[in-house]
Amino acid sequence: MFARNAARAFSAHSRMFSSSAARQTKVCVLGAGGGIGQPLSLLLKTDPLVSSLSLYDIRGAPGVAADVSHVDTASEVNGYPADNLDEALEGVKVVVIPAGVPRKPGMTRDDLFNTNASIVRDLASAIGRVAPDAHVLVISNPVNSTVPIVASVLEKAGVFDPRRLFGVTTLDVVRAAKFVSGLVGATPAETPITVVGGHSGVTIVPLLSQNNLGQSLTGETYEKVVHRIQYGGDEVVKAKDGAGSATLSMAYAGAKFANALLRGLNGEKGVITPTFVKSDLFASQGIDFFSSSVELGVNGVEKIHPIGNISPEEQKLIDACLPELKKNIEKGKSFVAQSS
Ligand code: NAD
Ligand code: LMR
Repeated sequence: MFARNAARAFSAHSRMFSSSAARQTKVCVLGAGGGIGQPLSLLLKTDPLVSSLSLYDIRGAPGVAADVSHVDTASEVNGYPADNLDEALEGVKVVVIPAGVPRKPGMTRDDLFNTNASIVRDLASAIGRVAPDAHVLVISNPVNSTVPIVASVLEKAGVFDPRRLFGVTTLDVVRAAKFVSGLVGATPAETPITVVGGHSGVTIVPLLSQNNLGQSLTGETYEKVVHRIQYGGDEVVKAKDGAGSATLSMAYAGAKFANALLRGLNGEKGVITPTFVKSDLFASQGIDFFSSSVELGVNGVEKIHPIGNISPEEQKLIDACLPELKKNIEKGKSFVAQSS
């Protein structure tokens, strides 16, 4: 039984990192010593598309790097302590940012803004200076605000390219596939669910009607699963009871998104996944960042897909999402505008 499960897990892992292209890439993790940063660094070490890993944190990154570097994959690993941020960023093609504080029970993601906004702003500023061509993957919460913060900082530095900035919303997609699969008696691979909007509470909008199996859920079952997808993060925060928020499932989701981007950068066609990007979809309503299915290519964002046909229930979810998302985005932008 163990052997069979192990074989299945291995094959899922190989699928996650499957690739036919050979080009390899230097990837940097900012916040590598943290609850997400450590397992994310480990998973990136096992991604064949990563040639070099640069691990930075204000505490503990050299130790994490020494540990991860013993894994028998080809990539090299270097760790950088607090005052070596610029060195950590030199020559990197992809930067993943899980730096910042996580929630405790009773907090919203927006309650993290006061601490995390300046952490992300300062890291973005270093990226703009040292690695202006890098693709930036933002995990730090509140994502609805931290992504506009990175965009505004890079814009101020004159190096913003909207094709290279991504809010990582993959955990919502992972949760949606898992939760829906359990309800319809299928595997998560059979219930891929597009999740659009943003990454917090009502801004998370799962489009179950676009999946054959997902659309079979109605009434209370539908309402409950939508709520569970929107508030899955709270479930973990509560269970961890003060010790933080999702780290392991987030590391999995972060590595999965990074691998999708690397495959796109390597020229693989048809790599499409939801991610929170600068988007025109709702720009007419003053919302210029939005998560929808995005095709990833050699330059990063290749094509932003519209949300497509949705049910009346989903239209109500979008209506609830937009004002909250707009507020979160504006908060991020004005934070940078007011920073000297
Ligand atoms: P953590 O406290 O375990 O780790 C955060 C790490 O960031 C720490 O090691 C800390 O030293 C480091 N750090 C702080 N300031 C830094 C700086 N200026 N430069 C570099 N590193 C710095 O927290 P965690 O559980 O890993 O969560 C990190 C962030 O990710 C939180 O904001 C959390 O809310 C968010 N998160 C996002 C998602 C998502 O879906 N996007 C999912 C889970 C968690
Ligand atoms: C999540 O969705 O798990 C993360 O955004 C962390 C959190 O604060 O819930």
